[in-house]
Amino acid sequence: MKSIVIANWKMNPQILREASGLFRAVAKGVRGIKNIDVVIAPPFVYLPLLEVGRGKSVVALAAQDSFWEDRGAYTGEISPTMLKALGVTYVIIGHSERRMHLGETDEMVNKKIKAVLKAGLTPVLCVGERTRERVNEIPVFVGEQVKKALVGLKKGEFKNGVIAYEPVWAIGTGTPDTPEGATRAALYIRKIVRDMLGGNVADSLRVIYGGSVNAGNAASFISRDIRGMEGMLVGGASLKAEEFIEIVRRVSAQ
Ligand code: PGA
Repeated sequence: MKSIVIANWKMNPQILREASGLFRAVAKGVRGIKNIDVVIAPPFVYLPLLEVGRGKSVVALAAQDSFWEDRGAYTGEISPTMLKALGVTYVIIGHSERRMHLGETDEMVNKKIKAVLKAGLTPVLCVGERTRERVNEIPVFVGEQVKKALVGLKKGEFKNGVIAYEPVWAIGTGTPDTPEGATRAALYIRKIVRDMLGGNVADSLRVIYGGSVNAGNAASFISRDIRGMEGMLVGGASLKAEEFIEIVRRVSAQ
């Protein structure tokens, strides 16, 4: 399966000039790197503006969130159809920072996943436990989050979807999970998806790791022989063009 590396810029950078500079530098830097999907998730306001020069770019665009309705009286929200019209292809749903700071629930995440799929966009569902589990423990909490996010989908839906395993304790802390822990989570998540939505979906699913990824550790999370982790969701390190390009290079070389 082709790996995927997604840059989650979060609420950065502060001005458009920096955002376009970073986007251009990354698009240029990853141009020759083969066999990998590179995605950038900037803040909403930059999405239409980064489109400039994107025609031949190998970088795809993601949104960091989406509302579940298509239109109407929902002040401040952005719909999946609006995102689709801008050329966005992926949408991050249920990031732990939204769950934590904005009270996003599993039920809301589920509605958003359904809306994103209906619009023909690819969801990047984020799951992860808040506190570190004991070594060798199956991440049961994470399994519950996956089930609640995907409940009500029909068999075959969520094909080619992405699930990011991001332990909350590893995000922005400089303490990533171990490759073994991340692989265990990936196998477990894929099994749950298989049970819920069938083998076709589970086989087409990419499970990726997020939480203190940098150029030094990125490649260690990628499994060679089994369907474990097949990419990364990168926060802090995605704001430095050179480092992010290096992550893409090393993941593609695995
Ligand atoms: P981090 O963030 O790479 O800065 O730990 C990852 C994320 O929140 O997606």
